[in-house]
Amino acid sequence: MKIFREKDYDAMSRRAAQVIAAEITHNPACVLGLATGSTPEGAYKYLVDWYKKGCLSFQEVLTVNLDEYVGLSPEHEQSYRYFMQSNLFDHVDILPDFTTVPDGLAADLNVECAQYDDYIRSQGYAALQLLGIGRNGHIGFNEPGDCFIKETHVVDLAENTIDANARFFASRDDVPKQAISMGIGAIMNAKKVLLCASGEEKAEAIYNTVCGPITPKCPGSILQLHPNVVLVADEAALSKLTAAGVAV
Ligand code: PGA
Repeated sequence: MKIFREKDYDAMSRRAAQVIAAEITHNPACVLGLATGSTPEGAYKYLVDWYKKGCLSFQEVLTVNLDEYVGLSPEHEQSYRYFMQSNLFDHVDILPDFTTVPDGLAADLNVECAQYDDYIRSQGYAALQLLGIGRNGHIGFNEPGDCFIKETHVVDLAENTIDANARFFASRDDVPKQAISMGIGAIMNAKKVLLCASGEEKAEAIYNTVCGPITPKCPGSILQLHPNVVLVADEAALSKLTAAGVAV
């Protein structure tokens, strides 16, 4: 695992954007696996800025997103489709048909999940999969549990995930209780994984991901088995690793 230790959120965002931009520059028709949440927002701002300056084009890029809330329409301001449109897609030259987010309103969610996996497989999996991490170690919405789930699946969100995401909704009751999440299989099949983290509240999850036991109790820990992971994190998110004397 290659680790970039950055000073703060802005430096983490810039470094993450550099890794993504490098991928697009080397391979303009790449498949990018994208993520939502507070963590990647800053990186998307840098990418939009570099696009506007003429340094980067998304014209041939194809994207697949990690997850979507069940029951939220693409127009809902807290849906992940809305997040992607407003943070990235609406501001760059990506082709709308080349962007895919799971459909949280699908009539048959199991069919949607199976088709999502078929689609990602048919595209040869992501060249680069961007990931944030939950305080509980989740990646995508692969929540801690008794086993790693390989396929795209409907997940019951953990209570602490609902707590963490309540800040985006009018009340905790408004947070959807389920989501569709890309499974561990598609994430592990990505050629490169870019894991990003900022803030002390992520320090334990990052520690467990990097040097804890490989266990579905901390889904991020499976990344220890991936041959090409780049971790971009700020000093606060790395603080438990550095306190333990792990060289970063
Ligand atoms: P965050 O979420 O980027 O909003 O902290 C990350 C995650 O829960 O995966």
